[in-house]
Amino acid sequence: MTALPITPDFDVWPVDHQVQSLDVAAEALTITWSDGRKSAHHALLLRENSPDPVTTHPKAREMAIGPEELAEDLCITGADLQASGAISVTFSDGLTSEYHPGWLRGTAWFGDDTPEPLVLWTAAEQPEPPTFNGPAALDDPAVFLDWLEALHVYGVARLRGLPQQDGLLEQIVTRIGPVRESNFGRQYVLEIKDDPDSQAYTSGALLQHIDLPTRELPFGLQFLYTRENTTTGGEGLYVDAYRVAEDMRAAEPEHFQSLVTDVWEYNNRAKTSDYRGRGPVVETDATGAITGVRYNTFLRAPMKAPLEVQARAYKAYRAFSARAQSPEYQMKFRYEAGDLLAFDNRRVLHGRAGYDAKGGARFIEGIYADRDDLHSRIRTLKRQFRADSAS
Ligand SMILES: [Fe+2]
Repeated sequence: MTALPITPDFDVWPVDHQVQSLDVAAEALTITWSDGRKSAHHALLLRENSPDPVTTHPKAREMAIGPEELAEDLCITGADLQASGAISVTFSDGLTSEYHPGWLRGTAWFGDDTPEPLVLWTAAEQPEPPTFNGPAALDDPAVFLDWLEALHVYGVARLRGLPQQDGLLEQIVTRIGPVRESNFGRQYVLEIKDDPDSQAYTSGALLQHIDLPTRELPFGLQFLYTRENTTTGGEGLYVDAYRVAEDMRAAEPEHFQSLVTDVWEYNNRAKTSDYRGRGPVVETDATGAITGVRYNTFLRAPMKAPLEVQARAYKAYRAFSARAQSPEYQMKFRYEAGDLLAFDNRRVLHGRAGYDAKGGARFIEGIYADRDDLHSRIRTLKRQFRADSAS
């Protein structure tokens, strides 16, 4: 059997379904698959994704032609199923290309293209972070992937039982992607400072918040590695802000409307930096789906807006805050030595109960990274597993 054609990417496309029949029309190729599903592939989409070396750069696998290089009325003139399982398509500009059936199936629209759903939670539904064995995750890429997927789906996930090792936090984070540095350093230590530039560096209670709402794009991920904790108190208080926002969308639509439209500004209060970020508390996309939150009560700058906007925005912020402080939404747990807690800083709010600084030692290291790197690593690990199971 001859090899299947390359695809215009580096992904691995298993052939789980056979092509049963092809229906050729000028504008589109329609494939009926062995499971009875049908997919339609537009002529221009097929043509510009042709794996031939002129259309797709043979090394970079990126598109090497622009849309204007194809005739507006370009059409399909023929299509055949090859013995290899590839589909050969001929276009009106004279090109004949072969397409990988796994790629055609995997990139097709079936009317249900919703992303993997996130699991939103209250305290009763998720009293503790999803937790994985730390040493096992470091040894076994499948466990490591389980941890990353839980982080994506729940917005928080923990490794337990890690050894105490300098540099281990950065070593683990860089297995996912690059560290995102901030004015707090490449890595920071949550410790008590005499002259703190953040309340994080005190032993006081911290209201739930996201970090760095003062940035144009607040950092997507935060990792906290507990090296030592023998203090009393200081529990982590975590809230799924997407759950809070969705509950408000249903129960308090006026407040929700303010949360998605009224813009707050946040500024850090340091002596040597002046970061400012602006945005609504709840960020939504064109479909209304929530994509992030920008909530931090103690870094809010005075709102510059008409009085009536200030009035409604304050009401809405207060209502959001009341839910975020409610035990109904709060996951509360201790940081134990050897824990690595990862969370989505643009979804899950974190806070802290106050602790007795004289009653023991507390040493927690932190690093930031971004969501994109998490998503990319999940995809590439899955790609690797598909390649391994195909070989
Ligand atoms: Fe924080």
